[in-house]
Amino acid sequence: MPAQTYDEVVLGRRSIRGYLDKPVPQALIEEVLTLAMRSPTSMNTQPWHFHVITGEPLDRIRRGNTERILAGEPDSREFRRGEAFAGVHRERQVEVAKQLFGAMGIARDDAAARKDWVLRGFRQFDAPVCVIITYDRELSGSDDTAFDCGAVTTALVNAAWSRGLGCVINSQGIMQSPVVREHAGIPDDQIIMKAVALGWPDPDFPANAVVSNRKSVDEAARFVGF
Ligand SMILES: Cc1cc2nc3c(=O)[nH]c(=O)nc-3n(C[C@H](O)[C@H](O)[C@H](O)COP(=O)(O)O)c2cc1C
Repeated sequence: MPAQTYDEVVLGRRSIRGYLDKPVPQALIEEVLTLAMRSPTSMNTQPWHFHVITGEPLDRIRRGNTERILAGEPDSREFRRGEAFAGVHRERQVEVAKQLFGAMGIARDDAAARKDWVLRGFRQFDAPVCVIITYDRELSGSDDTAFDCGAVTTALVNAAWSRGLGCVINSQGIMQSPVVREHAGIPDDQIIMKAVALGWPDPDFPANAVVSNRKSVDEAARFVGF
């Protein structure tokens, strides 16, 4: 595929929640990670690790997540979640959910379809690959570590997009962290931060076309001394 400019990558990228049943070569993921890892970090600490999972281990994670969710197991993620969203943050959450459900034709009162959609997330959207981002436990007292993991993860999804790959960063994949820890073999000296589903976008999957909104630069930025 032709090379995309930076603007094309950033403006074209969307979260991808439907994938083709087609493997992703390990060498291509290594190329994407090499680009992502140029991200800046606090004092160049590079606190991150990437556990790139496919095949049978990923299927075990999908099954484990699904079983635990259906059994009503509470969220067991390993970092602070904060309060439930309220106010404008809740409004934005609802807005993108409405966009996604609208694209998928899932009605507000269709409990079964909504549940299916949620379970899809716990299966990593049936993507061929899932990348689990972790960080070194000994740095867990610093908020810079979480900041650095976010930076590298955004760089990862953009680098993937530049190579024709789609991703969705997600918390659903790590809400049942003991399942991930067991089947991905995550060492005890690392904390599980986030999951990224990755693969070739299915062009016919309606939710993949959703373009989420952004507040304006006017709302987000103040310019001082200009
Ligand atoms: C930290 C984080 C957690 C997320 N968790 C989920 C998730 O659990 N399930 C999901 O479908 N999308 C998840 N997303 C994707 C966001 O919903 C998405 O990035 C946002 O709506 C903006 O849409 P875009 O990525 O298409 O621009 C997450 C994104 C981030 C950055």
